[in-house]
Formats: sequence, structure tokens, C-alpha cells
Amino acid sequence: MTSAAYAAPVMSWYAHHARDLPWRRPDASPWSILVSEIMLQQTPVSRVIPAHAAWLDRWPEPRALASASVADALRQWDRLGYPRRAVRLHASARLITSRHGGRVPSSAEELRSLPGVGAYTAAAVASFAFGQRRAVLDTNVRRVLARLVVGESRPAPTVSAAERLLADRLLPPDGKLAARWSVGLMELGALVCTAARPRCAECPLADQCAWLRRGYPPSPRRRRAPGYEGSDRQCRGKLLAVLRDAQGPVGASTLAAAWNDAGQRDRCLAALLADGLVTRGTDGSLGLPGDEPPRPETPGQTA
Ligand code: ADE
Repeated sequence: MTSAAYAAPVMSWYAHHARDLPWRRPDASPWSILVSEIMLQQTPVSRVIPAHAAWLDRWPEPRALASASVADALRQWDRLGYPRRAVRLHASARLITSRHGGRVPSSAEELRSLPGVGAYTAAAVASFAFGQRRAVLDTNVRRVLARLVVGESRPAPTVSAAERLLADRLLPPDGKLAARWSVGLMELGALVCTAARPRCAECPLADQCAWLRRGYPPSPRRRRAPGYEGSDRQCRGKLLAVLRDAQGPVGASTLAAAWNDAGQRDRCLAALLADGLVTRGTDGSLGLPGDEPPRPETPGQTA
């Protein structure tokens, strides 16, 4: 099967059915696209839309974020989850400012050297922001290709060399068309070729789909991800929320009130300190990086 046989139906379907998302508009800046891709790594589109708009309102350019503190970035990130992304995005903004004159670099290799930018995000920004011909293999694209070409209900847990080769082979030769093909597959995976309940009757590729032809064979069950309630991730989130709301460093007893299990709390606090999401002052107080330490009181100070 040639890639052109897939591309035309996908492009036409995308033109009629794609969601109008801010980072997909023709005037979206590379910075807007980079911020969106970092946010979308682990957060659904519906939650990213308002967070992305607020982030760009506040920091429309990398240079603006570079002059803010990490604490500002963490407070703005708020409850989007996986807050290390905010710290890394802040570090990336500083590198973009110091190394690249404040412009998001266009090569996938330079993008890859930014904190928090892995192979997927580098390819997505190179393709969507700069029209480079790069395969963009997110989970939705991988699922569509696994079904369409391989005939399996879902892809392997990690990207294989064969999968990369297949994705490269299917890319249209022109960079801008390749970007549209990738975002089209992504949208098809998000809206039609979904993991749990695919809507094959609405799929523009149904008559070419190997998985459909094979009678939808299921993949072996995978172990379920551990739950959130009571997890270390929830505990870290609660501790960080206290520090975001505090607007400055607090004592350990303030954090103790946020989580009852002392052992788990200490473990999670140690992880937050090790990840650079929390700092400890010389007086033992805990805060977000860049938060002002409490000032010693000086005689004669008025309130
Ligand atoms: N459009 C461009 N990149 C996207 C992504 N990562 N998720 C959803 N839609 C997108």
C-alpha cells in the first residue's frame, strides 16, 4: 500500500472534522506550539486549552518566562499535573533566551537538547512549527498505524525501529504536507480510532484497515496502572499545592497538615527536593524554588 492511498482520505477527513485548537492555527508561534506539546504530554486537550491560553497571556515569548522565577512557573502550572514539566519548560525558556536569541530553535537536534523535550516533542515542534519532514509518533498516531498497517489493536509499549521506519515511509514527501498528515492521524486517533470504542463506521481508512479486515483481534491484556488515590503522586501534589498557595516558604508543620502518613510524606518531600520542585532554606523552611526566604525581623520595622 502506498502512503498516498492513505494520505488523501486522512487529509480530507481532517479538513472537515478537526478540532480548532489554538496551537494548530496557522498563526501559532513556535513558542505556543512548544508550550502546547509539553502540556499535552500528560494532560488531556480539554484541560490544556485554558492553561495554554493563560500561560501565553502571561509569557508570550520564551524571554518573558526566562525572567520569571521557577516558583512563578510552578504556580502558573497550578494543577496540570507532573509539575516537573513546568520546571523544565522554565529551564528551556532560559536556554532558548541565552543560546538561541530568544527564538525556539528549528532543528530537532537542538530542540532535543532542551530540558523536557524528548524525541516525540522535538519531532512534533520541528514538524508543526517549522514544517520539517519528521514522523510524529504520539500514542494516537501509533495506535492508528498499528491497526491500519500491522492489524494489531494497539502498538507495543515502546516505539520500535520497525515502527519508526514504517512511519517515515508513510510520510508525504513535502514537510508541510507531512505535518498535516501527522496531525490528521493524531486527530483520527483522538476522535475516531480511539483505544476503547473505535468508530469504524466513521473512519476514512476503514476499507484499508488491516485490523478491521482481520476481524478486530484483541491484544493481550496489560496490567492496569496503579490508582491515584493514596499514591505518592497524590501526596506530592498535595504538598506542592500547599507551597503554591502559601506564596512563600513555610515550616515543616504546615506541610505535615497536608498529608497524614508521615513516612510517605517524608519520602515524597525528599523526591520533590531531589527533583528541584521544592527547596529547603537554611532555617529549615520549605518553599518553591525562587520563593523569597522569610526576612529576619529588623527592629523599628513597621507592618
Ligand atoms: N495537535 C498538535 N499536537 C497535538 C497533540 N500533542 N495532541 C493533540 N493535538 C495536537
